[in-house]
Amino acid sequence: MSVYIAGTGSYLPEKLLTNADLEKRVETSDEWIRVRTGIEERHIAAAGEATSDMARIAAERALKAAGITGADLSAIVIATSTPDHTFPNTACLLQHALDCGPIFCCDLCAACSGLVYALETASALIRSNKKYRYVLVCGAEKLSSIVDWDDRNTCVLFGDGAGAFVLENRDGDDKFPISCLGADGTYSETIILPGGGSRNPTSHETVDQRMHYIHMQGRETFKLAIKAMVDSSNNVLSAAGVAPEEVALVIPHQANRRIIQAVAQRLAVPPDRVFDNINRYGNTSASSIGIAFDDAVSTGRLKRGDLVLLTAFGSGLTWGAMLLRY
Ligand code: ACO
Repeated sequence: MSVYIAGTGSYLPEKLLTNADLEKRVETSDEWIRVRTGIEERHIAAAGEATSDMARIAAERALKAAGITGADLSAIVIATSTPDHTFPNTACLLQHALDCGPIFCCDLCAACSGLVYALETASALIRSNKKYRYVLVCGAEKLSSIVDWDDRNTCVLFGDGAGAFVLENRDGDDKFPISCLGADGTYSETIILPGGGSRNPTSHETVDQRMHYIHMQGRETFKLAIKAMVDSSNNVLSAAGVAPEEVALVIPHQANRRIIQAVAQRLAVPPDRVFDNINRYGNTSASSIGIAFDDAVSTGRLKRGDLVLLTAFGSGLTWGAMLLRY
């Protein structure tokens, strides 16, 4: 059984938030944000637009590209840290919105590494049993709902959006995707949303202490991200017996242009083979690789048969790299 990417799709909400807009809100500057992160603008969901609404549109586009409908799906795996609700899971909401049958539906939380984890989970389902013919994998985030808009350390970084893949179980013996995923909970406080869970259930006090927002140690995260993305990429290349020059495109999680450039340099991959659209979308967490992948497909940067290296890093700490064939 081979795992084949039958279609991709993405969705970005209409509203744009520019660096100039943020200059009016917190003490920052367009120059600081561009030089330190590479970000120029990000998309922000409308007030009534939830994660599942964005996921639905990205998924419909991926289904159309694959030439199937929701009724053909055998499973849905959604990577998100900003589900519509703690329960029911977002995948169930999508199952209903896409008119799917009574199929396997689950959300997966691995922050910015979530989509790579979800692709690995979906591939494992496909390889486990022929009944999983088409699996929808989606990364969808409404980070604007957990960003502290008064904290300049974080509010300039994040954006909303969704990216989707339809994976298909095809006859064949293609060894890809191959992945190398990992985590280290020692660093669990490095990027954390402290409130609203069972440790600190929502109360007036947790809200007063702004515990319902992202808290991040940026400098520490920056260093750990580069090492984890480079090490996991090297490990997956060596496990697959693939040289960096055989990879048509590296699609890193879009967190910071300086991280992307440092990873490319350490992997010795020329800049024109490293995908970077962070200027337009900012960090969309679990969605970023899906949005970037669909961007690369629709602009012709990826051709059928190309080998692609995905690499990501996020809260947990989690990380991972995956080699797959488009
Ligand atoms: N505008 C102006 N100044 C700012 C801003 C801002 N928006 N934000 C911070 N500063 C200031 C700081 O206060 C600090 O000032 P000080 O020296 O007087 O204390 C100075 O700029 C430098 O701050 P640093 O934190 O050292 O800046 P750095 O170069 O590390 O850039 C950044 C910060 C962009 C956050 C970077 O560290 C980064 O990208 N980290 C990685 C984030 C990431 O990858 N997250 C991934 C996962 S997210 C998830 O999983 C949900």
